[in-house]
Amino acid sequence: MSTDLNDTHRPWLDPKQEPFIKIRGVTKRFGDFTAVDNVDLDIYKSELFCLLGGSGCGKSTLLRMLAGFETPTAGNIFIDGEAVANIPAYARPVNMMFQSYALFPHMTVEKNIAYGLKRDGLPKKEITRRVAEMIELVELGDFRQRKPNQLSGGQRQRVALARALVKQPKVLLLDEPLAALDKRLREHTQYELMNIQDQLGVTFIVVTHDQEEAMTLSTRIAVMDQGRFIQTGTPTEIYESPDSRFVANFIGSANIFQGHVITSTADHVVVRSAQDDTLQFTVRHSAELAQNTKVWVAVRPEKIRMLKDAPTTPGPNQLAGSVHDIGYLGRLSNYKIKLDNGKMIDVTHPNQTRPTSGRHLVDWDERVYLHWDSASAIVLTH
Ligand SMILES: Nc1ncnc2c1ncn2[C@@H]1O[C@H](COP(=O)(O)OP(=O)(O)O)[C@@H](O)[C@H]1O
Ligand SMILES: [Mg+2]
Repeated sequence: MSTDLNDTHRPWLDPKQEPFIKIRGVTKRFGDFTAVDNVDLDIYKSELFCLLGGSGCGKSTLLRMLAGFETPTAGNIFIDGEAVANIPAYARPVNMMFQSYALFPHMTVEKNIAYGLKRDGLPKKEITRRVAEMIELVELGDFRQRKPNQLSGGQRQRVALARALVKQPKVLLLDEPLAALDKRLREHTQYELMNIQDQLGVTFIVVTHDQEEAMTLSTRIAVMDQGRFIQTGTPTEIYESPDSRFVANFIGSANIFQGHVITSTADHVVVRSAQDDTLQFTVRHSAELAQNTKVWVAVRPEKIRMLKDAPTTPGPNQLAGSVHDIGYLGRLSNYKIKLDNGKMIDVTHPNQTRPTSGRHLVDWDERVYLHWDSASAIVLTH
């Protein structure tokens, strides 16, 4: 069962699997500005792969090189075993869904979806069949005769998706596909997109700047910054095991303590805080670090336990402070705890019980004691 899972759902773990898309040393310069900087990446068949990063980090440029709208300054791209450098955009086995959707305003939903097939000169019968299939897939049956300006944002998004998929590409490139939708619709559409991808088995590469969207959608994520890949992994790997402060802060939030390694064994590291030398952290860690190495200990807000009583025995990973701020969000609350040394710590707790008489678990200015398990924190070296 577990090998089966690896083969079908985690092809990147199987050295026998050939990547469907190979990006090798790809760079794109505009004048003397480097938009994409020497990136390598393997994407496997039927993945839903996300390129995630802030605005201007080079996501769209990389996508456009895959589509054939931009030419790499250096490096090679292979799709399904073939180098695509000399293959023009229209002849590549990929299709792109643009951020703006780029629908034809004067054409009906049906005609918008049929357009590409008509231009390719497919027989009328086949066009009718394929367009009908797509309209059913994206559930636009009641809207086939409408024009784009008679549709909601979500419906327009689905027309754009159908129009891109009707050509049966092996790879669909989606540039910020949900950015134009409001929050609730975006969440709904994320699941719709995953279902459609799952049904068709087409490889999706999605560009987004929205970390929650990337976490929800992807098989794997590449986090980008300034034209480079900072870390690539599954959503769980990226969130639970970020390998830099950049990723720890970019995906979710993290409390970060700077310090130095006091002792390091095969399974854990002891770190002394640089800010407060009475403070020690024990972190379970697989790699050994030399004594005195400068490191950062990162802990996610939801991994910290908060108690009103002082611990009976002092130990590592224990902090004391007072409640500085409470953000009540209904299903959870965010607390800002001001430590005795002045540092502010974020703690998140689910609201598992209904507060009686409108009182919180703890109150403003109340004294609290924080603690986490050594397996809940991570050590970062940069
Ligand atoms: N045709 C172009 N000419 C010059 N600079 C460009 C061009 N296209 C993109 N850039 C620059 O490259 C950088 C990356 O752009 P882009 O890939 O669109 O970023 P993202 O999609 O991550 O927001 C940006 O600084 C952008 O201004
Ligand atoms: Mg972009």
